[in-house]
Amino acid sequence: MSEKKKSFVLKEPHRGSIAWQCPSNIALVKYWGKKGNQLPVNPSLSMTLSNSFTEMRMEFRMQERPGNISLEYYFDDKRNPGFEVRIRSYLAGLSVDLPYLNHLHLTLNSRNTFPHSTGIASSASSMGALALCLSSLEQEMFGMHQDDFAFRSRASFLARLASGSASRSVYGGFVVWGHFPSLPGSSDEMAIPLPFQPENVFNGLKDSILVVSKQAKSVSSSAGHALMNGHSYAEARIRNASINLDGLLSALRQGDLEGFFTITEWEALNLHALMMTSSRAYLLIEPNTLRIVKALRSMRETEGLPVCFTLDAGPNVHLLYPAAEEVKVRDWIDSRLKEYCEDGTVIHDQCGKGPQRTE
Ligand code: PMV
Repeated sequence: MSEKKKSFVLKEPHRGSIAWQCPSNIALVKYWGKKGNQLPVNPSLSMTLSNSFTEMRMEFRMQERPGNISLEYYFDDKRNPGFEVRIRSYLAGLSVDLPYLNHLHLTLNSRNTFPHSTGIASSASSMGALALCLSSLEQEMFGMHQDDFAFRSRASFLARLASGSASRSVYGGFVVWGHFPSLPGSSDEMAIPLPFQPENVFNGLKDSILVVSKQAKSVSSSAGHALMNGHSYAEARIRNASINLDGLLSALRQGDLEGFFTITEWEALNLHALMMTSSRAYLLIEPNTLRIVKALRSMRETEGLPVCFTLDAGPNVHLLYPAAEEVKVRDWIDSRLKEYCEDGTVIHDQCGKGPQRTE
């Protein structure tokens, strides 16, 4: 048995339950393309949300006949075979190094505070929540990861193996994932919280999500990442991501809202330009996505409200703006932009403090 495996000797308790709330996040510098075992080809920067989170409860007990992964997965109190298969395969992959997983029966109960396919990444919040539950389990059963730094690093590492962007959701505020030479401690293996306090204007930054379409996206992010292998713009993209990360870090340090807006919007458009120019070219934005972007840019010229947009891998638009502008921006959204949203759906969220253990 390897040293790593030997350290996982089961102690008490042999049954119990753990629950975490883990928020989703929105990337400002996008993770797009992977290498090796879920490692990013470029560093990314995100903002953790507040109201949009997954609540997961994990019950565990010893299996009578240990062997394989033994799992039940419920979403909104209903067994969900599709997601159960995904989680089983993730846990089976982990069990090569974490054999204790084959000795337990796990029951997961999960729910999201936000609807499906609305431009809020549920894989980031749900896989983040699962990784936090597993890290707490290791803490309780093996006495590992006792200090907060070790605990979060472990959770981020485990989350990354399930879904890259989930690695960033285990921290609040702004979060960096991927090795970046000027940020000590940054790593491809796990995310780190921003190692400085951003200027006040970014405190509680708002994110209003304009839901242009509630349809599931036609090309998954996994397929999108794969299309970056051999993409003719890949080299330039990787270079630009680092330049943009550097620029956004300076903007956050200096309270440079304009610089922050310019780079954030550039990143969003670049992500979609990469999709449109991959070997299997595809388009996830919709006419109303562009209508919103154009309305935003013309409003900024005429009225000067400080708002910028970003896009995830889909047509829905995230509007980012300082907390102090909330009333004015919400009025503008209600009067000018709701017509571009499916059923007028807008979800209001903001930068949050990160996950919370609830049990
Ligand atoms: O973590 P994944 O594999 O779902 O990929 C996320 C990719 C983007 O959402 C487009 C960007 C990001 O950094 O979150």
